[in-house]
Amino acid sequence: MTTTGPPPSLIATLPGRHYTDPEIFALEQERIFETMWFCVARAAELDKPGSFRTHQVGRESVLITRSRDGSVKAFLNICRHRGAKLCTAESGEVRRAFQCPYHAWTYGLDGKLVAAPNLTSMPDIDRTAYGLAEVHVREWLGYVWVCLADIPPSFESDVMGAVVDRLGDVESIDRYDIDHLQVGRRITYEVRANWKLVIENFMECYHCATIHPELTEVLPEFADGYAAQYYVGHGAEFGAEVQGFTVDGSAGLDRIPGVADEQDRRYYAITVRPQVFINLVPDHVIFHRMYPMAYDRTVVECDWLYLPHVVAGGKDVERSVELFHRVNQQDFDACERTQPGMSSRTYAKGGVLVPSEHHIGEFHTWVQEKIAGRSSETALDLT
Ligand code: FES
Ligand code: FE
Repeated sequence: MTTTGPPPSLIATLPGRHYTDPEIFALEQERIFETMWFCVARAAELDKPGSFRTHQVGRESVLITRSRDGSVKAFLNICRHRGAKLCTAESGEVRRAFQCPYHAWTYGLDGKLVAAPNLTSMPDIDRTAYGLAEVHVREWLGYVWVCLADIPPSFESDVMGAVVDRLGDVESIDRYDIDHLQVGRRITYEVRANWKLVIENFMECYHCATIHPELTEVLPEFADGYAAQYYVGHGAEFGAEVQGFTVDGSAGLDRIPGVADEQDRRYYAITVRPQVFINLVPDHVIFHRMYPMAYDRTVVECDWLYLPHVVAGGKDVERSVELFHRVNQQDFDACERTQPGMSSRTYAKGGVLVPSEHHIGEFHTWVQEKIAGRSSETALDLT
């Protein structure tokens, strides 16, 4: 069988093995997820000292907690004694300290080693040197972001810059006051597909007319297949008969007060590399975090955020949650349908991107540059 290259108006995708090869996935973990800012928790979940969450970031487990001075701290979730995983729960609360379940070394909320059985017989042990390994933390938009790099990249340019690219300035997102919105619903999706398929799908709208009947009713321009998020400041306008961003186009909930008139009746979508997607509509914000767990497995955690009185007052958020929940299911079904094809011989040299998908080619170039970073150390041929 011979495979010819795409005609000039089409460009090639990555070859199939970029979605199926555990060695390539390991490089992506090391050189993308362990070097960039990575969003791990809603800050309000850590509501008191000792509240914690754990998350896989690249190949590491990270423990995120609130310390006694009110600040959020993050550590590698590994005991410094013999390397046992310190916290095995995904979330929870400790009263004063984290105690390793193996030999009971105990760490304060600031990560310092505070006790160890028989430590009096080892008076010379340096309790700071054997504290938990701390990782960099930032809070923004009410979320906790961590970075495992020794010297993190600029948060302002890498994270906030993605918002500027889409909205024209960072202040435009401040109008949604995302810090002070509350989680009205959280749904976690297990997607049996490579993380890049999830991102590529989120980046294009060529599929919208085929798989998103409810979304294209609310946002008619999506039926044309052009992803509005790629035009700075544009946003996608609601259909003329549509009252709100809901599954049946019925009225939404109270508008977020800071939303400007030009942002009203519009939908904005932002991708923050490598794993955050944000959707802005007048009465709520949909905030996705994607966690690549294996070359063929991705967990997506999605929050629907509303004004505090909407959540506290028990208002019915069902019709607005249902719209994007269906979109998510439709998208993730498509990703799962695509994953097996990545190991087919017919995809060995990849597929093609039509002109409205060409920006996915930029994403592929970015991923390849990241993982090739120190290519002389890399035995893999990444072509
Ligand atoms: Fe944690 Fe020994 S491995 S106390
Ligand atoms: Fe979609």
